[in-house]
Amino acid sequence: MNYDEFADLYDHQYDVYRDDLHFYGGVGERAGGPVLEVGAGTGRVTSFLARRGVNVTGLEPSARMIERAHERAAKDSLNMRFVQGDVRTFRLDERFETVIAPFNALMHLYTPNEQLQALENIHAHLKTGGSFVFDLYVPRFGKANTVRHEGETFHTPDGRRTDVFLVQRHDRPRQHITTEYHVDTTQPDGTLTRRHYTLTQRYYTRYEVEWLLRFAGFESPRVTGSFQGGPLEAGSDVMVFSTRAL
Ligand SMILES: C[S@@+](CC[C@H](N)C(=O)[O-])C[C@H]1O[C@@H](n2cnc3c(N)ncnc32)[C@H](O)[C@@H]1O
Repeated sequence: MNYDEFADLYDHQYDVYRDDLHFYGGVGERAGGPVLEVGAGTGRVTSFLARRGVNVTGLEPSARMIERAHERAAKDSLNMRFVQGDVRTFRLDERFETVIAPFNALMHLYTPNEQLQALENIHAHLKTGGSFVFDLYVPRFGKANTVRHEGETFHTPDGRRTDVFLVQRHDRPRQHITTEYHVDTTQPDGTLTRRHYTLTQRYYTRYEVEWLLRFAGFESPRVTGSFQGGPLEAGSDVMVFSTRAL
């Protein structure tokens, strides 16, 4: 999944998402050594950790997302490193105290082979006993095959207005959810331009993840249904997994 085309829209959509920041900030501070963030995107979480003095490296396949992350680092004078690579195949010489994969980064691994390859590679980059912490959304979807507007409207200082519309398709046998984004930008004179993006995510169930972790050499995880640590319940929006490399 190439995020290059999403890079400009991404920060508009998700810079306001802060639910996970204090949680991952705490994970990074407790690591007491180098932290690797897998699927670091434009550095939303990476920068939060760097600001707290955590020695953090962001792994990210999209050149354009990394470009945005570098812009953020320069603007805020932050010391953080970004490496271009894929979680399944990257190779770094160092071993990390902690690896994190915030905000559904593992949902771009579409088959059991890809998932296992990624988890084994993460394991290989962790010190023995090192932590691996990540979150995934709980599969629950809006109305499929229907155009929806979920309140995503952005205004820019030059008077432009951008509205995000989406249509989702659900492939249950593959556990894929594909979102087609129709992004409408209206100029002050009323002229409309539309861009179109497609994003496919592979969603997970809790016990599927637990088995995958065991298979890849991790201990049985702690699973919570929020970043504050409550149990995973029917109404939970996220599944937060914390485990260690055996
Ligand atoms: C939803 S974004 C999360 C970005 C960032 N962690 C955050 O919290 O804002 C998912 C990120 O995973 C990255 N990604 C997709 N496939 C990947 C892969 N195979 N290996 C590593 N990262 C990947 C995408 O490029 C994207 O930046």
